[in-house]
Amino acid sequence: MTHLLNVDTLNFEQLQRLVERALLFKGKKAWPQHSKHRMAALFYENSTRTRISFELAAVNLSIPVIHFDSAGSSESKGEVFQDTFSNLVAMGLDLFVVRHRQEEFYKILLPLCPPGVHLINAGDGAHAHPSQALLDLMTLREHKPLLPDCKVAIVGNISHSRVAKSLQFLFQQIGLRDLVLVAPPLWQPSSVIFGKVTDSLEEGLDNADVVICLRIQKERFLNDDHLDLDTYIRQFRLTASRLLAAKKDVIVMHPGPLNRGLELDSEIADGKHSCILQQVTNGVFMRMAIIDWLLGS
Ligand code: NCD
Repeated sequence: MTHLLNVDTLNFEQLQRLVERALLFKGKKAWPQHSKHRMAALFYENSTRTRISFELAAVNLSIPVIHFDSAGSSESKGEVFQDTFSNLVAMGLDLFVVRHRQEEFYKILLPLCPPGVHLINAGDGAHAHPSQALLDLMTLREHKPLLPDCKVAIVGNISHSRVAKSLQFLFQQIGLRDLVLVAPPLWQPSSVIFGKVTDSLEEGLDNADVVICLRIQKERFLNDDHLDLDTYIRQFRLTASRLLAAKKDVIVMHPGPLNRGLELDSEIADGKHSCILQQVTNGVFMRMAIIDWLLGS
């Protein structure tokens, strides 16, 4: 594999291999060295977890990380994204982790990648977030060995969520028995990749093995996407009493950043069912596995 742009191009064996590799990296402290490579994270949208974990993953693999600040780059002087990218390639950078609000931005960059240059999509608008879906799969694997037999509910702002889209592809690929996408009608997706859509949180939580909450992504709202947040809190916030409808060993996940009290209560976020920080930990190892794979180890 040369680039990681989406999860829809990964087959079952490739998914398995990435998870195995990430788990292996998690279990030991001696990792492959890729010190001849140079990485830059080009983030045109804010990020804490994704950016830092990709940078840490590179450092763990002995890859120097070159700092890039989109606000301080020459794009503020009129240079276009493509020219910035070509200049960084010309300097000898060969691994790029890119997050951009423009969906499928990589279609513009791919023709500018000479052989040996690798591109990782770290989130493109509301379209895809492959590394998040993969680290979620790793976390699920640690808790639910019989994942295909499970019921998973993804709850919240589905229509704006790149995480929800990538997860749908991934759950389809692994043959998940039951995926329920829970959202108020205003935030239901116009086209469903996989799963059943409902506006009933009760239906989603009933007997669920896994609940994945999503952030309310206000920055992606168009004029008619604004739902009254008090209504959302009343009907969709994950609370301890609502979670009782799920299985006793249910796990709760969230890609972060969390809005406590809006998407879920602190009692849940910090409680015994929560795997949210474990997802963050796994993010480093999954991103190591992705980089290692692209660099051909
Ligand atoms: C997600 C993202 O940016 O798409 N967060 C993340 O990468 N950890 C989810 C979100 O911002 O809502």
